[in-house]
Amino acid sequence: MTTPQVEVQAISRTYRMRSGLFGRPISVRAVDNLSFSIQKGETLGIVGESGSGKSTTGRMVLGLEPPDQGSVHFDGAPIAAPGTAAWCAQRARMQMIFQDPLGALDRRLAVAAQIREPLDIHNIGTKAERDARVHELLRSVDLNDSHGARYPGALSGGQRQRIVLARALATKPDFLVCDEPVSALDVSIQAQVVNLLIDLQARLGLTMLFISHDLRVIRQISSKVAVMYLGRIVEFGDADDLFARPQHPYTQALVSASPAPGRRSSNRIVLTGDPPNPAARPSGCAFHPRCRHATARCAVEVPQLTAPDPQRQVACHLVAGASSQAQDAA
Ligand SMILES: Nc1ncnc2c1ncn2[C@@H]1O[C@H](COP(=O)(O)OP(=O)(O)OP(=O)(O)O)[C@@H](O)[C@H]1O
Ligand SMILES: [Mg+2]
Repeated sequence: MTTPQVEVQAISRTYRMRSGLFGRPISVRAVDNLSFSIQKGETLGIVGESGSGKSTTGRMVLGLEPPDQGSVHFDGAPIAAPGTAAWCAQRARMQMIFQDPLGALDRRLAVAAQIREPLDIHNIGTKAERDARVHELLRSVDLNDSHGARYPGALSGGQRQRIVLARALATKPDFLVCDEPVSALDVSIQAQVVNLLIDLQARLGLTMLFISHDLRVIRQISSKVAVMYLGRIVEFGDADDLFARPQHPYTQALVSASPAPGRRSSNRIVLTGDPPNPAARPSGCAFHPRCRHATARCAVEVPQLTAPDPQRQVACHLVAGASSQAQDAA
């Protein structure tokens, strides 16, 4: 058995905040006892509605935020504490791309200099080698030196996200966390950037954690998929199989609402009830108030992730082989 590139074991993260200016302090459990691993060269897609804990998971995987409980290993070693030399070395091998490329770039600096920055920080190569690498990186994201000479404000949204991608690839990372990298782009541009990511992933053998609320994008890019609901994984499996045979009622609703060739819109499952709110987590199965199959048991017992077949994990009392925990600890 090879060491996974990334191994996440039972991580949790609770935020404490006030409800209103003088309100009572409340706890929001953003991520709750989450475990998964990503093999080298694999793309794990994380999908779920807003507030399901996707970004918090991404930050903990990169070591940008420590989990309250649990651990994250990268290539067999625990993620080092931020600011240490070990963390700096790890960070050169793990990069991230966020939703807003303009926010990630310095508006006062030509983009070539920004692609070069990680090479300067990590002291990689001579000046001439760095220049050559910037040229090569621009080409790898289908841009050229004339784009490199421009400032972020003179580029389109798609071009800016390509620059962010080129900068992320500068140190030849093994692992990329992409958090909604195309959500802010026009749909036609989204497809180009996703195709570029797929191409680069295959060419460079990258391992990826790809976060999105958009099932179409997740379906296109992922080899494995984790569906999150209120900080927990409710279903996990191989992407093609999961989309063809979703087993959790939440995944079934998401898949039915996502346009796909051959699926009739009359088959759409409409999710009723309030969207997930981590500050008011329902008892038992957190999805039960919106689940059309919920029984009395679902309101009191928390379903655990179990494997109805070897390729799939599902946390639902209605799926054969599911087990439960008597009372919600949240
Ligand atoms: N720094 C923080 N301080 C307080 N609460 C936070 C913080 N970060 C996240 N949260 C809360 O944790 C929960 C999960 O947030 P997170 O951003 O991880 O969700 P998400 O799935 O990425 O959502 P989205 O699709 O909107 O990006 C939310 O209720 C959010 O308000
Ligand atoms: Mg997010």
